[in-house]
Amino acid sequence: MPVKSRTPYANSFAMALPDREISNDELSTFIDTSDEWISKRTGIKKRYWVSEGTTTSSLAVEAASKSIDQLSNGTQIDAIIAATLSPDYSFPGIGVQIQDALGLPPVPAYDVRNQCSGFLYAMEMGGALISTGVYENILIVGAEVHSTGMDKTTRGRDIAVLFGDGAGSCILSHGKRSGLSFELVGTELHSDGAYAKELWCEHPGSVLFPDRLTEELVREGKVFPEMNGRLVFENAVRHMTEVSLSLLAKHGYGSSDVSLFLPHQANLRINTMVAQKLGLNESQVFSTIQDYGNTTAATIPIGFTRAVEEGAFTSGDLVLSAAFGSGFTWGAALYRVV
Ligand code: ACO
Repeated sequence: MPVKSRTPYANSFAMALPDREISNDELSTFIDTSDEWISKRTGIKKRYWVSEGTTTSSLAVEAASKSIDQLSNGTQIDAIIAATLSPDYSFPGIGVQIQDALGLPPVPAYDVRNQCSGFLYAMEMGGALISTGVYENILIVGAEVHSTGMDKTTRGRDIAVLFGDGAGSCILSHGKRSGLSFELVGTELHSDGAYAKELWCEHPGSVLFPDRLTEELVREGKVFPEMNGRLVFENAVRHMTEVSLSLLAKHGYGSSDVSLFLPHQANLRINTMVAQKLGLNESQVFSTIQDYGNTTAATIPIGFTRAVEEGAFTSGDLVLSAAFGSGFTWGAALYRVV
């Protein structure tokens, strides 16, 4: 394969949400929690949960269709990279469902599963495939349905109040396509599997023998995500700050060069603390957590879509994005608005 070096650009951001809006007050009717606790500890005011018939892949397809509609006629998508921790099925992943539902030719469909860092992992992979000339236009999608996979009782309240469903997408190309484009200046990714069990969903999994799922596991709630919230919080603040500074320095920048910080949205307090450590002021941080909760791999493209709609970007801006999540995995990406 020829090794070229071409600059990747993210174009045509779009998003999709389910139709059911769930306020903190509504959550408090079936979980022992309150709007006050959730707002104060997380910044979340509401989130969207699916109704029957809406799935991770259907949300992904809705967002992706909107991204593709923004492209000029005749632009071919020649690969899909789909990030999710909540695929419709154990296998295959949602990439092939997206390919089929969009009626695309039999292009490759990658599935990325790096949780809250999933979109950044997808962008780094897509960026490398564009810059080396393997593909011209890659559909990148992050999509999640959390609401059907959480313990929505008081037992699971530390997790159930945090997550929402949704999808976001963009087209990564070797050129600017339409409207605002985001030149992918660079990415930096990390992982530390020693912390895998601090934020995970253990079952069902092939680790169990002879059967990976039993009635007992379901009864005991061992099929739901579990999290060491405080440890995750501390590591998120530390790693998102460090990786941001490292990526900026690699490209000859400091945090004073950043126009807008568009991070993953797990907890407003995490992002406020990271921004403070980076020396950014509140108005430089783009937040969507109040409206959607944590939509994991969908969060960053949803944020870009909203920021474009709200006119938050100006040509020439340097945009910093960072994420931290289960794995642990974390990373950052740097974009120049053109
Ligand atoms: N409503 C009311 N009370 C609650 C709730 C709730 N939903 N959840 C927990 N509590 C209680 C606890 O039981 C505890 O009570 P106690 O003091 O009587 O024991 C009290 O509130 C404090 O609990 P903490 O867990 O210490 O609260 P904290 O301030 O740490 O906030 C939170 C918890 C919001 C989960 C926070 O730790 C956090 O945001 N962690 C990081 C989450 C994250 O970044 N996840 C990564 C991405 S997810 C992914 O990758 C899939």
